Amino acid sequence: MAADVIDGKSFASRIRESVACYVAELVSSIGVTPGLAVVLVGDDPASQVYVRSKGQQTVAAGMNSFEHRLPATTSQNELLGLIEQLNADASVHGILVQLPLPKGIDESAVINAISPAKDVDGFHISNAGMLSTGQKAMVPCTPLGCLMMLRQRYGDLSGLNAVVIGRSNIVGKPMAQLLLRESCTVTVAHSRTTNLQQLLSDADIVVAAVGKPLFVSGDWLKPGATVIDVGINRIESAEGGTRLVGDVDFDSASAKAGAITPVPGGVGPMTIACLLANTVTACYRAHSLPEPLELSV
Ligand code: GUN
Repeated sequence: MAADVIDGKSFASRIRESVACYVAELVSSIGVTPGLAVVLVGDDPASQVYVRSKGQQTVAAGMNSFEHRLPATTSQNELLGLIEQLNADASVHGILVQLPLPKGIDESAVINAISPAKDVDGFHISNAGMLSTGQKAMVPCTPLGCLMMLRQRYGDLSGLNAVVIGRSNIVGKPMAQLLLRESCTVTVAHSRTTNLQQLLSDADIVVAAVGKPLFVSGDWLKPGATVIDVGINRIESAEGGTRLVGDVDFDSASAKAGAITPVPGGVGPMTIACLLANTVTACYRAHSLPEPLELSV
């Protein structure tokens, strides 16, 4: 039987609607509009598209969007100066520095200069540490979106076998931490794992975030597994031109899995929706108000 296709686009739009309601509530109750500052250094075309989209969706949810576009020649000290200014600005509740940064700028130094309370990407070492020790943290947006989709499918995840493919700081590691917190049995595989097929044959949940097009074959899956495909890869299409594919071969996987996210239209739209959710959460926390539970996990 064909797998259920998890519609990330409509899930994300429901999250954005909730975000807009909570924003309206903050405005009417305490007169505060949540604000998100996005910093883009250089002119990477993909980053420009993401940043524009983040700004548009922030405004559409009723929040303030502050965009800072800096030239590729910006020095690390200049960037750190801007972050210091944003940390001190009470109208800014969330700060996101778009990655990758130009060569010569130390990404870790920049990320760790962001106030942890405003780190809506959840990349600061303090947030990473809080997440891995089970404390309240800002959770990275893509894993947060993946977990929301898994919770929607299963409710309780405890005891399920989960394999996360990929060990990045942005997706793989925080995803594994979140699944552990849900009492899954978690295995982290990556590009050097030698027995992936064997691991997947017993996985109820597969989160693929390895950045290799069509890396996971449907034949390897446990029948009925839930597959969350974080990959977005552009490949040559058989008909000429290019097409977007995930890290999972959708056609073979959807014949074996119980549920699967498509690419595009799966995890992708959830990431920005969760960024907006994190910004609202940061604003509630900044004003010592009980935060909306549906916007976090
Ligand atoms: N570049 C690619 N993905 C991301 C992300 O989630 N956050 C930031 N800041 N930069 C990115």
